[in-house]
Amino acid sequence: MSEKPWAGRFTQPTDKFVEEFTASIDFDKRMYRYDIQGSIAHARMLAKQQIIAAAEAETIIGGLEGILADIEAGNFEFKVSLEDIHMNIEARLIERIGPVGGKLHTARSRNDQVATDVRLYLRDELKEILGYLDSLQESLLGQAEANLAVIMPGYTHLQTAQPVLFAHHMLAYYEMVKRDAGRMADVLKRLNVLPLGAGALAGTTFPIDREFVAEQLGFDGVTRNSLDSVSDRDFALEFCSGAAILMMHLSRLSEELILWSSADFNFIELTDAFCTGSSIMPQKKNPDVPELVRGKTGRVYGNLMSLLTLMKSLPLAYNKDMQEDKEPLFDTIDTVKGSLKIFADMIAQMKVRAENMRVAAARGFSTATDVADYVVRKGIPFRNAHEIVGKTVRYCIENNKDIPELSLEEFKQFSEAIEADIYDYVTLEASVNARRATGGTAREAVEREIKRARDERKK
Ligand code: ARG
Repeated sequence: MSEKPWAGRFTQPTDKFVEEFTASIDFDKRMYRYDIQGSIAHARMLAKQQIIAAAEAETIIGGLEGILADIEAGNFEFKVSLEDIHMNIEARLIERIGPVGGKLHTARSRNDQVATDVRLYLRDELKEILGYLDSLQESLLGQAEANLAVIMPGYTHLQTAQPVLFAHHMLAYYEMVKRDAGRMADVLKRLNVLPLGAGALAGTTFPIDREFVAEQLGFDGVTRNSLDSVSDRDFALEFCSGAAILMMHLSRLSEELILWSSADFNFIELTDAFCTGSSIMPQKKNPDVPELVRGKTGRVYGNLMSLLTLMKSLPLAYNKDMQEDKEPLFDTIDTVKGSLKIFADMIAQMKVRAENMRVAAARGFSTATDVADYVVRKGIPFRNAHEIVGKTVRYCIENNKDIPELSLEEFKQFSEAIEADIYDYVTLEASVNARRATGGTAREAVEREIKRARDERKK
């Protein structure tokens, strides 16, 4: 028999370059464990259904376990001539246990096999990613708890807008990451069905028991249409979409960390372990990690686009094009895992420069809205109040004063409604703590959300 399992109808050997060009072994070998896991479950089912003998299944399973041990010990030669992980393992099995190994592929095709392997593999990776998402949430929450009294400038258009608690800002990312985790958990739900049993595309003539295989492999059920089973890569697309959104969030946090660690902001310090120096400028400590994560967001977006474009217009059922699904998927998994892991640690160790944040929060007339709200409470329509405070701010700019520094007489030039109690409303604390409704930045509102987050994490 020829080395290639499919060589029967061929008279000429494959062109060497074609062999290399069509092979996926260099990247799909990372799925070896899942390929073997799926094959073991399949062999058990074949024996249970008396499609092969029990003793044959035992031999096959023993052989597969031996191959698994060999691969893990680094004693396995992956061959490009055997194209992919599925044929590499099968060929080795036959080499190891003889012709009976050739019975493993009964009632199965590489098309339903690869669909199964990718789902098993991604399922495990997703669980790991969910763990990292959880660690990052913990780090963000920890920073919020540790810095409850810290006030920073809140921005719109990157212009000072209103003071907010730094904890509130951290909790904003907590919410984003929580939704990211929800999206990943969602991928897991739709991914967890077994495609094996679809055969090449139409099903199989053998009396298989798909539910039995599903149960052994921890799937919640089986796919319902054989054509769809071997064609569907939605689960990979859902994952890559969720990953793109998640990286978008990390890129926003990255951007802020980079700005905040600049000498001009000086709001935070990333610990030395997460920074690098310059080969020429001795003073430099560069925020490489957030910069790289910001950069890596681009490739994760690119992977999503590759995969969407790959699948666009493909006729049913399997097409070799689909072998190209793996590199973008694997790269996305690696990038997301690395970024999350490093962020969870970096955020946990980040040092907060509370005083600098406070000084910046007081600049830029950040309590102007509080004066407007004060005037509104005295019965003046908001639009007029806006105008009054606008003029007050202009006066401050022209006279180089800050709002809390104005005398009552100066305030009264703009509105007679302003009384001596105005000074109680224009401090940073007063401004922050006035925003008490759910989701606001008041300390009591933020403490409520921290408690809520803590409670939901206990569950
Ligand atoms: N390496 C292939 C892939 O990843 C496995 C399925 C191949 N099936 C086939 N009929 N050529 O898509």
